[in-house]
Amino acid sequence: MAITWQTSLFTGIEIVDEQHKRIFAKFDEFFEACDHGAAGQDLECLLTYLKDYTQVHFHDEEDYMAGALYPEFGRHRELHRKFITDLSVLDKEIGQEGEVRQIHILTTKRLLIRWFIQHIRLEDRNFAAYLVEQNSFPTSP
Ligand SMILES: [Fe+2]
Repeated sequence: MAITWQTSLFTGIEIVDEQHKRIFAKFDEFFEACDHGAAGQDLECLLTYLKDYTQVHFHDEEDYMAGALYPEFGRHRELHRKFITDLSVLDKEIGQEGEVRQIHILTTKRLLIRWFIQHIRLEDRNFAAYLVEQNSFPTSP
């Protein structure tokens, strides 16, 4: 199952939208590799990149929120932290063998993607709406 970025996920914050698209592409790359039986170092490399890049993205978003005195900043940051923890579950799963591994990865994949889509639709778009209200859209990270 390919994971594709959708226009309904558009926040209007250019850099954030670009980063979201890249995360979707990286998720897709990682899960495609899982589906095609990649293992060991190849998967670890992809997962490490995905985790590192997601953290950079969250950090950039949090910087915008702090700078804009976003009232929901603390709560939003906690959601990001929880997601990074959940993402780490994949570390264990890619080390498993056979059918169990495939089932676990598939379940985690669904959960992570669902979380990410809902987070953007609700939380990130709320932040974008706040920036519009405040008339303070960022122009660079
Ligand atoms: Fe976010």
